[in-house]
Amino acid sequence: MELTTAKTSVNNTGKEKDKVHVFAPATAANLVCGYDILGLALDEPGDEVVMVRAGEPGVRLVKITGDDGRLPLDPTKNTVSACVQLLLTHIGREDVGVEISLHKQMPIGSGLGSSAASTVAGLYAINQLLGSPLSKQELLPFALKGEELACGHGHADNVAPSLFGGITLIKSYEPLEVINLPVPKDLYCSVVFPHVDVPTRAARQMIRSKVELKEAVVQWGNIAGLISGLFMNDYGLIGRSMKDVLIEPTRAILIPEFYEMREVALAAGALGFGISGSGPSVFAFSTSKATAATITAQLSEHLKFKNIDSNGYTSAVNMQGPKEF
Ligand code: HSE
Repeated sequence: MELTTAKTSVNNTGKEKDKVHVFAPATAANLVCGYDILGLALDEPGDEVVMVRAGEPGVRLVKITGDDGRLPLDPTKNTVSACVQLLLTHIGREDVGVEISLHKQMPIGSGLGSSAASTVAGLYAINQLLGSPLSKQELLPFALKGEELACGHGHADNVAPSLFGGITLIKSYEPLEVINLPVPKDLYCSVVFPHVDVPTRAARQMIRSKVELKEAVVQWGNIAGLISGLFMNDYGLIGRSMKDVLIEPTRAILIPEFYEMREVALAAGALGFGISGSGPSVFAFSTSKATAATITAQLSEHLKFKNIDSNGYTSAVNMQGPKEF
């Protein structure tokens, strides 16, 4: 998507600040059946950005923690600083100078929207620092540029929920149209990240580019069913719709114990189970926090029994998106 198509009306409504500290949430994209079009925000984990105004113009990345040295400090290569610079250029504020510290609090290459959370935190931070000249809607195209830089494709199903909170539907990419879907009140998420690295770029390249019509019919039935379930508060329908006949059979190969974990999750009360984003994290919905916690614990236990380390998270759907401390 071209930034020139973004409707960026600059409203200097708020007071400019010298320092901001922002959290942006991790996300579970696809929601099993909705490749590249559905995603939700989690309460945890998430990334933090501290942004301090500097005397000299320009965007500098002064510190990254929690990345085991894996992310570039070069401000033109790091998605956070590159997107902040893009935004400043686009709104004609190249006079502004900032120093950014990025604190990664989630695994990279995990299928939890790691790059999206960092980028959204950076964009939200610069917007807050400048007194909120742009709306969240107007920040979205910049976040998409970050995804393009991070994995070679500007998919919006991580950045949109991280930015808007809740469950989002990318109704279309050209033009970009994002819809916030209703979130039934008892919906809880279990997410487990088995410690194997699956870069999104590679996980996208392995998917076949053509699908059979009869499989497509199954897939769009499930997408429609899932969305209907969200509108109707029908948890059974939500669960029955969390099935992916197009992408999962290919990507599951990269995830240790994937089908065994599905059995564990469903036996522990999950409504449905599948891959979070491009994996290797897995994701389940359930209807109570206690059940979600049990599912998370049992999945981690199962992996531990197979000598695979993991991180587990139990979360409601995060309705807020980024927040300033
Ligand atoms: N929709 C993207 C994919 C999400 O499945 O590749 C990446 O987290």
